Amino acid sequence: MKVSVIGAGYVGLVTASCLADMGHEVVCMDSDPRRVELLRSGVVPIYEPGLDAVIHRNTRDQRLFFTTRLPDALEACEALFIAVGTPPKEDGSADLSHVLEVARQVGRHLTRPLVVVNKSTVPVGTAERVGAVLSETLAERGLQALPLAVISNPEFLKEGAAIDDFMHPDRIVIGLPAGAPGEMARAAMTRLYASLNRHHERTVWMDVRSAELTKYAANAMLATRISFMNEMANLADLVGADVDAIRRGIGSDSRIGPSFLYAGTGYGGSCFPKDTRALMQTAQQHGSQMQLVEATERVNQVQRQVLARRVMAHFGNELQGRRFAIWGLAFKPQTDDMREAPSRHLIRQLILRGAEVVAHDPVAMEAAQAVLAEDLADIPNGLARLKLVADANAALDGADALLVVTEWKLFHNPDFGLIRQALRHPLIIDGRNLYDPQQLQEQGIAYQGIGRRNALASQAVPGVQQAADMTESARPVVNV
Ligand SMILES: NC(=O)c1ccc[n+]([C@@H]2O[C@H](COP(=O)([O-])OP(=O)(O)OC[C@H]3O[C@@H](n4cnc5c(N)ncnc54)[C@H](O)[C@@H]3O)[C@@H](O)[C@H]2O)c1
Repeated sequence: MKVSVIGAGYVGLVTASCLADMGHEVVCMDSDPRRVELLRSGVVPIYEPGLDAVIHRNTRDQRLFFTTRLPDALEACEALFIAVGTPPKEDGSADLSHVLEVARQVGRHLTRPLVVVNKSTVPVGTAERVGAVLSETLAERGLQALPLAVISNPEFLKEGAAIDDFMHPDRIVIGLPAGAPGEMARAAMTRLYASLNRHHERTVWMDVRSAELTKYAANAMLATRISFMNEMANLADLVGADVDAIRRGIGSDSRIGPSFLYAGTGYGGSCFPKDTRALMQTAQQHGSQMQLVEATERVNQVQRQVLARRVMAHFGNELQGRRFAIWGLAFKPQTDDMREAPSRHLIRQLILRGAEVVAHDPVAMEAAQAVLAEDLADIPNGLARLKLVADANAALDGADALLVVTEWKLFHNPDFGLIRQALRHPLIIDGRNLYDPQQLQEQGIAYQGIGRRNALASQAVPGVQQAADMTESARPVVNV
């Protein structure tokens, strides 16, 4: 089949290259000329394991093409995927301007029947809005009778495992409109995804609105599990229990399952924070309230501060002269995505209070440099007090503590002897519960996990203020 994918970001590139790998001929269009130029010269602009190989294989075999021109993408195209960004607006609702702009452009250039597939995460009713924009622009050209279907096919891939998720999906959710457009789309999507359904049928067919809401429901459920465990971890700390034992204790219950039960520094990334907020907005627009989702979001806001709070509980609120090593910058391992990464909040809090930060991430250094420059722009000398280093161990030299933010496998088994020697105070504050508290105690390293029952307050530097002051506005900005 001839297919086009609009948007060459995390979702667009994976969709385009995997569809090409399934034998379809795919044109991937992006409005960013630099991005397209890079892709055409063989450079993949994001880090996603295995993506380079799939892109290179399919461009070489002329099944995958990149362009900035929408008419090129529409030529002989039977199905067009919209995979552009839907970032949050100020009020938390999804910004649909990119999606609707694609619809307008398609309406201006389309000359043949088309199935338009919304793959971007979009609020309920968006397919109808895309359909309305398309019909309007086509009518201006006298083409209102052109057969069209606008459908929903939300994406559930996980960054870091995106190729495998796309090629072996748990399910393929497809929302169809009623009547002839729905039938036209069903035929096209059945052909398009035939190879993914060969072993067993994975497609869950439904109406468009339900498909749109399914995506938000999935993300809200996963985010809720994370916030639930973070709350449980905070209680475990207070009552002297170990959240990791609790995780194993409840995760083995088949009604609960083991996934998404890890306590940590709060969820981040390009999806959970924005999709939970957009879902709350949708409810509000309909005179309702998502109370559970609101609580999930509130818990997460607090949890994002957990590492900074622990640093301050230990070293006090003024951190001039302190240096902290940070391992892991992206919001999770195996990606360079820095959108809403918990490390950003932590680094800002430390730098705001006068500390120096030396950080390492296996793949997100370039992306981190760009976003952190923006995050720290309003703090005098802020960026000067941040150093990103290419070697994880080099970050440790002379640091007061090591803060672990992202659970890369690389960080699972470090040389604790080296850590003890390199740090000024042998202290690890582990935002991902990677290490065994007992083992670290034996190694002579003070350790604080999340909900691991070893309250750091008892190990605080004598004389420091215990209550962490997390307010930004009340603080004089330090100038060192
Ligand atoms: N990243 C994920 O893990 C993930 C997972 C599931 C769903 N989603 C959803 O998929 C959508 C895309 O997310 P992403 O992470 O790939 O975004 P992204 O920011 O990485 O990529 C979006 C791309 O769209 C391009 N673009 C914007 N407007 C355009 C236009 N008018 N024409 C052509 N190209 C245009 C941008 O230049 C950019 O390259 C979002 O709605 C997101 O919520 C993302």
